[in-house]
Amino acid sequence: MQVPFLDLKVQYNSIKDEINPAIQNILDNTSFVMGKAVFDFESEFAKAHDVKHCVALSSGTDGNHVALWATGIKPGDEVIIPANTFIASAWGATLCGAKPVFVDCHSESYNIDPEKVEKAITQKTKAIVAVHLYGQPADMNPLKEIADKHNLILVEDAAQAHIAEYNSKKVGGFGKATSFSFYPGKNLGAYGEGGALITNDDNIAKNARMLRDHGSLEKYNHEVFGHNYRMEGMQGAVLGVKLKYLKQWTDMRRSNAEKYHLVLDGVKNIKLPKEMPYAKHVYHLFVIQVLSAENKSGIELRGQLADYLKQNGIFTGLHYPIPLHLQPCFKSLGYKKGDFPVSETLAETGLSLPMYAELSDDKIEYVASKIKEFFAK
Ligand SMILES: Cc1ncc(COP(=O)(O)O)c(C=O)c1O
Repeated sequence: MQVPFLDLKVQYNSIKDEINPAIQNILDNTSFVMGKAVFDFESEFAKAHDVKHCVALSSGTDGNHVALWATGIKPGDEVIIPANTFIASAWGATLCGAKPVFVDCHSESYNIDPEKVEKAITQKTKAIVAVHLYGQPADMNPLKEIADKHNLILVEDAAQAHIAEYNSKKVGGFGKATSFSFYPGKNLGAYGEGGALITNDDNIAKNARMLRDHGSLEKYNHEVFGHNYRMEGMQGAVLGVKLKYLKQWTDMRRSNAEKYHLVLDGVKNIKLPKEMPYAKHVYHLFVIQVLSAENKSGIELRGQLADYLKQNGIFTGLHYPIPLHLQPCFKSLGYKKGDFPVSETLAETGLSLPMYAELSDDKIEYVASKIKEFFAK
């Protein structure tokens, strides 16, 4: 049996009859950049997260940038970012000329550990980026308390967490601004690059609209420095169709995660992901940790397990094998191995199992059987 890590074709085939005419409509109208399909998607995506504004962008990375840019982050400022995340979570700060300051993640949620945030705050700290990694919301109440106490801007990176919930409230309503990615493999994926910023703040929404379109709200009148971060019409059309299915697909992902738990519960060589009591996890990724056993380290066993699964037609991923503080591009910041042990352990032992809405029960059972077989050897 073959189990891909992700299967975009099966999803496209299930909605082809709606996607193809939506794309044809863009071609017929030649509305290639922004346009009605994008504006309609913006209002539906804002509604889906119970917020006032959505500003469609050309990628989630742009969302990371615009979230900090639109809230006034400047060169010289420091921005707190989890060490365990995708590199783009830090680009928001670097693109604003600010300095990323990393903080370790929590051993159960894998998200930024609020207890470690306060120690990283200095006179120059201006913002905290809460990343809802793998689809699980970060612990927003303590983060908000810290942000309020120190007068910091709290933003959310929800690239992997569309419609995830924290204490029954959708992500995106906690920080000043929240960025999303619609990269094709995301829970809500475009057919190319795409992203968005959502906010309840009228001023931030206005700033973000200007920044994405050359610093202007009115053609050829450039109020501020800006960029071209506009969404393509075709992506808006695709996302508009797909958004209608997001809840159903999210439920399917959650049900797949439940099945993984059922069939893998009790396998003593692995640690399964934990849904925190405050979270409705949307399982963009299902990341297990491979534990050390019989003189073999977790990293060694992880490599062997991944190889064994691959030999049996099962494809896995690593998210993420090098934590941000150890990335070569941040060498000048002076971090070293050992600074953030939880993130480092996860980088060495985390293994992402196949996860997508349409993943079938027999595939999940097959993955589990091969994992058990590997450890039985
Ligand atoms: C946590 C996180 N932030 C930001 C991004 C950037 O999104 P994009 O690839 O759309 O630029 C990603 C994409 O993988 C991500 O996972």
